[in-house]
Amino acid sequence: MYVPVAKPFVGEEEIAAVAEVMRSGMLAQGDVVAEFESRFAGYCGAAHGVAVNSGTAALHAALLAAGVGPGDSVIVPSFSFIATATCVSMCGATPIFVDVDEQAFTIDPAAVREAIRPDTKAVVGVHLYGQPFDVAALARICDEADLLLVEDAAQAHGAAYRGRRVGSLGDLACFSFYPTKNMTTGEGGMVTTNDADLAEKVRLFINHGQSRKYLHTAIGYNYRLTNIGAAVGLVQLDRLEGFNERRILNAARLYRCAEESGLIPPYCRGDVRHVYHQYVVRVPDDLTLDRDAVMQHLHDAGVGTAVHYPVPIHCQPVYTAEAKGCRCPVSERLAASVLSLPVHPQVTDDDLDHICSALRSL
Ligand SMILES: Cc1ncc(COP(=O)(O)O)c(C=O)c1O
Repeated sequence: MYVPVAKPFVGEEEIAAVAEVMRSGMLAQGDVVAEFESRFAGYCGAAHGVAVNSGTAALHAALLAAGVGPGDSVIVPSFSFIATATCVSMCGATPIFVDVDEQAFTIDPAAVREAIRPDTKAVVGVHLYGQPFDVAALARICDEADLLLVEDAAQAHGAAYRGRRVGSLGDLACFSFYPTKNMTTGEGGMVTTNDADLAEKVRLFINHGQSRKYLHTAIGYNYRLTNIGAAVGLVQLDRLEGFNERRILNAARLYRCAEESGLIPPYCRGDVRHVYHQYVVRVPDDLTLDRDAVMQHLHDAGVGTAVHYPVPIHCQPVYTAEAKGCRCPVSERLAASVLSLPVHPQVTDDDLDHICSALRSL
């Protein structure tokens, strides 16, 4: 038995939905995309949704719509997937890396306050591993400093902060529908917002800067989602609550086993719904095995693991210049100690027994 750390679920309904689009001949952007945009935005409690072909495209288009460009800076957490920062660079602006909270792993509001510069235009907070960042604290800072708040919700479909779903908590929110995410369209993404003007701008940038057919008022991109992807997305959206409930159940089981085996289970804030895109433990320094040895042991026992992420963004070679003088010690400690265990909805009760016995044998 081997339990992989990720395993996307695609059922007969997705296959049938794709076949229907194929038979219709309307493969690219069309009515199915429009329906997916409206249903996904509605699910998030946002007024507008603009579908795109990746989470990276969502972030890039959102920042362009926010007016981010050369001469601006944008504050981002150093502990995230690289796209959280590269989308800032893609706009010609400069990312400013800040540290994260050591317990929750999400962006540290106090560090954001200290990092604001006269040229700062926006803050990107990441709902990392499916747990919302401290939205109230960050929104207050952004309000006071007149900065736009962008949610990187790539890992948090269906997560909630104080009873409100992510995707409607900042000025703009960006989702990814990559296969390992909480729901998928193959590749894909979505920008959600309550601001009609921002939504219109996102739409401009994802479609060649075209404001009317063959009239181009901005340098834009082809970031459009296809009807094929949207058809998959509509079925997956119906499954999302079930997927997330199973992730939450699996996380509760893993908590006890992780703790008993000497690993540090993840912390969940009291005022959020964490949807466990990843179940991330820390390997403590005083464990007899180091992280590599733990991974090898679990692999040999039939349990897949991964490290999200082994190098903080401010330590990435591509950001040597931008990161000069930057200090993010928590991100560095996390990068050296985190470990993701299988938590996805295809992890069964038997799989959990198997994972727990592998953990206990550490
Ligand atoms: C936090 C975060 N932001 C952005 C992205 C980019 O999404 P995509 O891979 O769909 O471009 C990802 C995807 O891995 C992510 O995890």
